[in-house]
Amino acid sequence: MNVRPDKDDPTTLGLLTQAVHAGNEVDPGSGAIRTPLVLANSYALPADPSAISWSGTDIPLYTRNSGVNQLALERKLALLEGAEAAVALASGVAALHAVFFTFLKSGDHVVLADQTYEATYRLFTELLPEKYGITATLVDTSDLDAVRAAIRPETVLVHTETIANPTTRIADVAALATIAHEAGALFSIDATFSPPPIATPILHGADLVVHSLTKYINGHGDAMGGAVTGSRELIGRIKSEAMVDVGGVISPFNAWLIMRGSVTLPLRMRQHAASAQTVAEFLESDPRVTFVAYPGLPSHPQHDLAARIFPNGFGGMLAFAVDGDLDTQNRFVSNLRVITSAVSLGHDESLIVHVGTTGPRAAYYPHPFQRAGHLRFSVGLEDADDLVADLAAALDATFA
Ligand SMILES: Cc1ncc(COP(=O)(O)O)c(C=O)c1O
Repeated sequence: MNVRPDKDDPTTLGLLTQAVHAGNEVDPGSGAIRTPLVLANSYALPADPSAISWSGTDIPLYTRNSGVNQLALERKLALLEGAEAAVALASGVAALHAVFFTFLKSGDHVVLADQTYEATYRLFTELLPEKYGITATLVDTSDLDAVRAAIRPETVLVHTETIANPTTRIADVAALATIAHEAGALFSIDATFSPPPIATPILHGADLVVHSLTKYINGHGDAMGGAVTGSRELIGRIKSEAMVDVGGVISPFNAWLIMRGSVTLPLRMRQHAASAQTVAEFLESDPRVTFVAYPGLPSHPQHDLAARIFPNGFGGMLAFAVDGDLDTQNRFVSNLRVITSAVSLGHDESLIVHVGTTGPRAAYYPHPFQRAGHLRFSVGLEDADDLVADLAAALDATFA
């Protein structure tokens, strides 16, 4: 017999139901059926507080330790990811830093994907080596032999992205987790491009999953946040070391906004993925477009792996370039009338950014990305027909 769904036991619920109910509780004070926004930064102490740990993080005490809205969001994120626990922080970068600060020390070595988000690249190529003597070997994490070969006795962490920003390279989560664990290392993965239901890396062996909540999980472009999910033990260490004593906490208002935005996450991801597939197929069919990188296209070098590990669609992020130099890419963007030129991603509105060819990170990108830069495109929730028409009109105007 099927388990009877019960919103007091979110493990009995499907993902859509979890996204609506998880983490939310009837407020005992007011009877409000949605967890209210609690801006107070300090909470009433018991009559005898002498046994309280001032670094504790489990009960509302002080907002740098934990608060009502942070705890509610963490409960929800852990459930959506299939993890034991979560910590919500001020931004995606605060979440990345929290992982590296907590689990690395001087002399440690990290195997790092050579295509990652800018801040991750800079942390491991400049800041962590210079300040703390932490070294990293950058590898193509789609080459499992290269990952194995990069492991050293002092390797304590393997870190990659599910779908790499900006190249859309895919990580074989289960295989990478096995390699890391055989070496006695932790495996952490930034899944910002592929929140549930696109990917749930914890269920495939990842120890720690990082998200920029600023992106898809909030989904409305109006709040910053970051999170790490994982086992109770590992998340407890992050909270105690990198949250309470470093302080990059999420604000109650941002936690509340992200909690609200995340209600529609599974629905939005379904639409982002469907529209991105339509847009990617359109762009690839146009001879004025020189390349399109999207895991849902058979031309993506890892399409077969993507089809195996992403049963719910390939996400909403793609990269492409139009035929021409850097100026041509800029002219194309200026000819768009629906799609907005701005950084960030995972918002309701479509966002495009022309990323040039400068900077050391670009040396690791596939060849087509290096010719005239690339256009990173976060496909939004507008009608896919409007997006295709906007792209088509901008191509016509650019190449008239
Ligand atoms: C993959 C990835 N990780 C982390 C971040 C950082 O997130 P935030 O801007 O919330 O600090 C970003 C931002 O674009 C990102 O794309």
